[in-house]
Amino acid sequence: MARLVRTQVEMEGRYEERWTLVEDDASPEYDPNERLAVVGHPHTRVSAAARLSGSARFISDISLPGMVHAAVLRSPHANARVGSLDLAAAAAVPGVRAVIGPGDVPDRDRRPVLTDAPEYAGAAVAAVAADTPEQAEQALAALAPAWEPLAFVCDLDDGLARQDFTAEPSETSRGDVDAALAGAAAVVETEYRTPAQLQNALETHCAVAAWESGDLTVWSSTQGIFAARDELAAAFELEPDDVRVVCEYMGGGFGAKQGSGAEGFLAAELARRSQRPVRLVFSRRDENVAAGHRFPTAQTYRIGADATGRLVGIESSAVIGMGVHGWVFPVLTPAETLYACENVRSMVLPVKLNLGFSNAFRAPGVMEGTFGFEQTIDELAEALGIDPLEIRLRNGAAVEQASGRPYTSKHLETCQRRVAELAGWPERDALRTDGRIRRGMGMASQIWWGGGGPPAHATVRLGRSGRPTLVCGFQDIGTGTMTACAVIVAESLGVAVDSVRVRAGDTAGSGYGPTSGGSMTMASVAPAVRSAAHHVRLQLLDLASDMFEISASDIVLRDGAVGSRDGTLHHEITEITAKLGDASLVGHGSRGPNPDDMRIHTFGCQVAQVAVDTLTGRLVVEHVWAVHDVGRIINPMGAMSQVTGGILQAVGFALTEERVVDPTTGTVVNAGFEDYKVPTMADTPEIVCEFVDTPDPNLALGVKGLGEPPIIPTAAAIGNAFAHATGVRLREAPYTPRRVLEGLEQ
Ligand code: MOS
Repeated sequence: MARLVRTQVEMEGRYEERWTLVEDDASPEYDPNERLAVVGHPHTRVSAAARLSGSARFISDISLPGMVHAAVLRSPHANARVGSLDLAAAAAVPGVRAVIGPGDVPDRDRRPVLTDAPEYAGAAVAAVAADTPEQAEQALAALAPAWEPLAFVCDLDDGLARQDFTAEPSETSRGDVDAALAGAAAVVETEYRTPAQLQNALETHCAVAAWESGDLTVWSSTQGIFAARDELAAAFELEPDDVRVVCEYMGGGFGAKQGSGAEGFLAAELARRSQRPVRLVFSRRDENVAAGHRFPTAQTYRIGADATGRLVGIESSAVIGMGVHGWVFPVLTPAETLYACENVRSMVLPVKLNLGFSNAFRAPGVMEGTFGFEQTIDELAEALGIDPLEIRLRNGAAVEQASGRPYTSKHLETCQRRVAELAGWPERDALRTDGRIRRGMGMASQIWWGGGGPPAHATVRLGRSGRPTLVCGFQDIGTGTMTACAVIVAESLGVAVDSVRVRAGDTAGSGYGPTSGGSMTMASVAPAVRSAAHHVRLQLLDLASDMFEISASDIVLRDGAVGSRDGTLHHEITEITAKLGDASLVGHGSRGPNPDDMRIHTFGCQVAQVAVDTLTGRLVVEHVWAVHDVGRIINPMGAMSQVTGGILQAVGFALTEERVVDPTTGTVVNAGFEDYKVPTMADTPEIVCEFVDTPDPNLALGVKGLGEPPIIPTAAAIGNAFAHATGVRLREAPYTPRRVLEGLEQ
């Protein structure tokens, strides 16, 4: 039976009420006393062979008959007006199929995709499509734009001084902070700064668009095929079903590829005009100036505790360098919610700058805020003479601090105690020496959302081959969702994980799947997948029961075979499915709503060990120990790989990654991989990772998300380890050799 219910859904800390279609989920919870066959056991990726052999088709690999190539004219100025633009000259270049300028493309997110008033260097002004990429470049040159440069502001402090904001500054508070801090046994005041970090997914933003009989198909490197579909449909005045978005494989997104992106709009408009399929792939430079960034912040904290180390007041502020626009991600959520505290006040100031727009980047806001807040907690612990682990344990929050609602589950203390045990925390002072190389150890905790929610739909089909096919509307952005979903199907049907075909990333063939953002994919999709597989399981059991004259409740499905509990019966599943002929067993499942009046969060704690070369200023992260609580782990191998990736990206944030802007021109000077330093294998610390792996009792399957949690605490733990090693606080990331040496000289 289907019902429509009103429910609350969450994405990266933003809550909204929504109607959702709820169907019966007949699949029972796994029996906690029964050992699961494949769920919770490590599995290599189902896509491994395709990825390793190169047969996996990424969006930049898509090539269609008659396809032409797009190029984009971008402003070289940080702020300008376009005086004139010779569209006709560009159209006259041989091989050119379409030329578009300001006003020729539907707005995206109420903003022009092509503009004659570019407010940052890299803003798109015009676009062309031609038979070859070279002809497209020639057409760009023929546009001969006349630029009228204007004054610009690219520096965070200058922007704040001008009081030019992308959104109203906001203040939130509870309790009486001033009174609480006045009565505190110790108060520390700190300031931390974080850099603009660039997502740098290996595959840049790209799309191929084609029209056929008025319908639009876009192959898009996107984290949200359905979001892209809806966006394109609205922009081009089509019904959602008239638009098909495909993303079979993509080379990462890290938050910057939600929905269609300008590339999809441009390719679609150029394809509409040229009546040819159009391919648009951002260059690495375009990617790093015009596709988003993690915004830089300047954070201040004033926090106080009583003599026992219990927090009494937390005041914080964050000045954010938004760029021209973007979401104001929740920088101060760690200060507001990580620990129990009754008196909290925070202020956020989103400053407008003449730089590209900010965009989500793995735990946007929260990882930046954790960097400042979790180091401030260490400073408070030091002022009170309390161990950093101990002060964290003493301030555990029993309920979600902003709403006062209970958590669906929380095992943060388990994470903190276990990670300290793994790292040898009590002996950490033995690492410290007086020589040229100083070693130290620091910790930091993590809070994030990640509960997922409806809608999410899945279909499982089982035909005569005995190999189930899962069709689901998610896109695997590189996280291993396909594999984890195959594991869930395999568990329900008692078949090998590798025998499950997963068809995802195509809006035409499946029910709705969520955007892969906010660590919500698995938690949204997994229950729907299990429910779909369970419906097939019930049918299979019925058939087996008839065929082998045994009660369905006595049947065990395992290792691709139908058996009886007493072990006397054993038949391959194919003995049944072979008789299906051209029929197949089909099951459908959908994600139910989350519990009302509760909050779903993920937790974790990491410890980092660093070595600091006091002569060269080189900081090496030697070890990271990570323990996370994200409910049930479906595929520990995939989960561990998520943690490794998150930690490595945080090492980049902490040590080397920083967008550098030339103050005289307002342009980004390190928009390529030569100058913008992402970490490599050589920078990878030894990582030890464990999970609490306790299913959340309030969520179907007990699963929460893991995409973002691991990146959150690492940089703060590194900062705390640096302070432990050297006795010096470095207040601005990344901790480059220059900043390290300057810090040590003070
Ligand atoms: Mo968001 S950074 O796409 O999870």
